Amino acid sequence: MRVLVTGGTGYIGSTAVEILSKKGFEISILDDCSTGHADSVPTGVRFIQGSLLNKSDIATALHDVDAVMHFAGKSLVGESVEKPDLYHLVNVNGTRNLLDEMKNATVTKIVFSSSAATYGEPDVIPIPESASTNPTNPYGATKLAIDTMISRESQEQGISAASLRYFNVAGALKSDRGWLAERHNPETHLIPNVLRSTHANPVKIFGNDWPTADGTCIRDYVHVIDLIDAHIKALDSLTVGVHEIYNLGSGDGYSVRQVVAAAALAIGYEIPTIDSPRRAGDPAILIADINKAKVHLGWTPTRGINEMVADTLASFA
Ligand code: UFG
Repeated sequence: MRVLVTGGTGYIGSTAVEILSKKGFEISILDDCSTGHADSVPTGVRFIQGSLLNKSDIATALHDVDAVMHFAGKSLVGESVEKPDLYHLVNVNGTRNLLDEMKNATVTKIVFSSSAATYGEPDVIPIPESASTNPTNPYGATKLAIDTMISRESQEQGISAASLRYFNVAGALKSDRGWLAERHNPETHLIPNVLRSTHANPVKIFGNDWPTADGTCIRDYVHVIDLIDAHIKALDSLTVGVHEIYNLGSGDGYSVRQVVAAAALAIGYEIPTIDSPRRAGDPAILIADINKAKVHLGWTPTRGINEMVADTLASFA
């Protein structure tokens, strides 16, 4: 089976390419490398350096493909607030082009990287897939618009689809070519920032007055290897004309201070931190209800916060 991995040179996409290749899938990658890294592409993998905004690039990438894993897109909440039109263009219009070209190429299977950001401020914790969707930033709004588009496409065109709503993805995977890990510039994510904290440049703790036990935000962290395992299970379970939505997290929450403590344990000394104002758009608590993925996909995440921290630390070496 040949899978087109859009965004296959990014942090999560490159991890998918590595795991799928090792499992014997044939891979094509479509990536414009705007945030990804071409040096992550394994030898023997078909790589089209091109854009979702260019239909002929998509058509080329879809050659001989049986299914699509669609990771490509803009993914920073803060940037989306500053550049909502760019997020709409790349994420929504780019996915519209992909779906149109899939129809032309009669490719009918898609697994899409959606986000917990589609829910916004949750009414209920842990958050089930049936929770109301009120995104609080343009990034989440684009992911919700795409989920809606895919639902319509599956009803009208009979495509088989799964949207996987990621909570906080972390950790890294060691490949023959070195570690596949977060290489964002600037880095905004908590775990890499905590591990890079120095006395000269301490990690900022965004808010110490949230309504949580230690006053810092709580998030649900899932290891990138477990996340890709869920993608493969979702691909296996696709049903004609059905669009399923699954939350992917661990089902557990860690506060920012608990993540700092886990990192201190891994690194062997106290992490310098500085209490800072709340970050705009952050909800206090996000924890996934992952029961649907457990039951329907037979998926259970197996790697905890300590492994995510340890792998991220090892990837820096
Ligand atoms: N945080 C800090 N200091 C930092 C970085 C983060 O205190 O230097 C805090 C944040 O305020 C938040 C938590 O750590 O409370 C996690 O922040 P991240 O930036 O690592 O992740 P987010 O929860 O903001 O975002 C993640 C994904 C998004 C997705 C969102 C879903 O990166 O793509 O989860 O809610 F939209």
